[in-house]
Amino acid sequence: MNYHKYETVIVGAGGAGLMAALYASRGSDTAVISKLYPVRSHTGAAQGGIGAALGNMEEDHPEWHAYDTVKGSDYLADQDAVEMMTSMAPGIVIELEHMGLPFDRTPDGKIAQRRFGGHTNNITGKPVMRACHAADRTGHMILQTLYQQCIKQGVTFFDEYQVMDLLINEGRVAGVVAYEIATGELHVFHAKNVLFATGGWGRVWKITSNAISYTGDGAAIVLRKGLPLEDLEFFQFHPTGIYKMGILITEGVRGEGGVLINNEGERFMEKYAPTVKDLASRDVVSRAIYLEIKAGRGINGQPYVYLDVRPETVNKYFEKDGVLGPDGKPKRVTAEYLLKKLPDIIDFCKTYLGIDPMKEPIPVQPTAHYAMGGIPTTKFTEVIVAPDNTIMPGLYAAGETACVSVHGANRLGTNSLLDLVVFGKIAGQRMAEFARENDWVPLPKETWEPVQAELDRLLNNPGNENPYQIRAEMQEAMNDGVGVFRTEELMQQALDKIRELKERYKHIRVMDKGKRFNQDLLEAWEVGNLLDIAEATTVSALNRKESRGAHSRDDYPKRDDENWLKHTLIYREADGTFRIEYKPVVITKWQPKERVY
Ligand code: FUM
Repeated sequence: MNYHKYETVIVGAGGAGLMAALYASRGSDTAVISKLYPVRSHTGAAQGGIGAALGNMEEDHPEWHAYDTVKGSDYLADQDAVEMMTSMAPGIVIELEHMGLPFDRTPDGKIAQRRFGGHTNNITGKPVMRACHAADRTGHMILQTLYQQCIKQGVTFFDEYQVMDLLINEGRVAGVVAYEIATGELHVFHAKNVLFATGGWGRVWKITSNAISYTGDGAAIVLRKGLPLEDLEFFQFHPTGIYKMGILITEGVRGEGGVLINNEGERFMEKYAPTVKDLASRDVVSRAIYLEIKAGRGINGQPYVYLDVRPETVNKYFEKDGVLGPDGKPKRVTAEYLLKKLPDIIDFCKTYLGIDPMKEPIPVQPTAHYAMGGIPTTKFTEVIVAPDNTIMPGLYAAGETACVSVHGANRLGTNSLLDLVVFGKIAGQRMAEFARENDWVPLPKETWEPVQAELDRLLNNPGNENPYQIRAEMQEAMNDGVGVFRTEELMQQALDKIRELKERYKHIRVMDKGKRFNQDLLEAWEVGNLLDIAEATTVSALNRKESRGAHSRDDYPKRDDENWLKHTLIYREADGTFRIEYKPVVITKWQPKERVY
């Protein structure tokens, strides 16, 4: 067996993991374990920008950003954490700039900003330019910048190691067990503290913007350890995924003036959100697209609409809306300008659709994008194990896998990248401090043995069920039953299907019996994680009898603050059943009111 000893172990090398590593390694002996080579992490898929009220292009304030975030969350976000995040935002963006992140610039050299959904001038209610961006590769640039800084600082990386278990002893975290993908060997990491920055689980759904690797591994491990997950029922559908493929078309396209058009050539968001129109929050826009499709106004009767960013269309609506440029004159764009601001998007459309978005509109549909829920944490990233905020000493979570909760029932675009760096930094600082102040807890008696037993079971199972088939059926069931609109009946059908699939999963057959780069084995293990998360998500969604943010029920169409202004904590019992408890929402300044965009 391979044993390692690090004071701090960070699982995941996306934006949150790398930022945490940078800070933790300044005060503790730190290792990062990642299933991917770090710059391939899913943070790279966040395109349009990172939100910070710098006010470089027009008046803006962190307090406006906080209010927009709370309103966007449908009042489920914890307001103390939101205020902390938005007030740290300008400083942390400047910090990234100083690390070398190549942000786009204004003519006078400041960080350029653009509009994004739900970000407003709180006085006029109109969209405000708050998204700091590096073309449409902002997440990718964050990854590159942070990884370079980590390398410069000598952080130790274990690339292509899959963490499969969390070790707990004497009520404290003692380390993790990881599978080395290249060799098939297990490694035990003894640690004083562990951060899960393992990302989300969009692969639970069929149409998703998420990478193939986004399988909820960290959250599934936590659930199996008897620890809770929070607010799983809130999963965001981004309005603009490429039709049938789900690949993300950044909201930055609408930020630069792109509009959504139905089969009648109508810019339909004018009806649904008269003030901010195409830049309403994502839950509102995704529902509007579905309602248009349901009313028979999808393009040629198909389940998609057009996203039109042709310069002549953008300029027509800029004129109609009276949008002004930074010089105070009516704003106009050219194809050359859009190519500079949205190079990857234009490239994706050419590659995947064979169309040039400067000449043709883009066919889009909502795509499963982001988990608002996850591993519950305090605003200092410590993992919570009970509704009274009791923590598990030494265990931290940050980034998409965590639920702080700063996104509540619906996240605003650009707040994911902000969440990663803000809470990654806090996690790193806290872990260095924890390592300094606490002794080692011994490893538990069993470390690698349960993982080896599960891998042996998967490899030697005499069954004949195909894990890829199980995954495909789960994704179909979740798209149909736990999508943008939900009902008791549809969700129950999805839950029945998932439970049938979990039974079949017991009889899966892994074809590759080898040790080196056994993707077949790994993906079979990941399917188990996806099924656990799908089941817990559906149970949480069935339980919440109201509509709020991304959880929109036809049978309970109204938000019900009297009964449901609370966070769900779902626990899996040893016998596989679920228990639900509730945690209050933290309200500081903003009492819930109706959301109008
Ligand atoms: O639309 C986008 O560029 C996605 C960004 C985000 O999810 O924050």
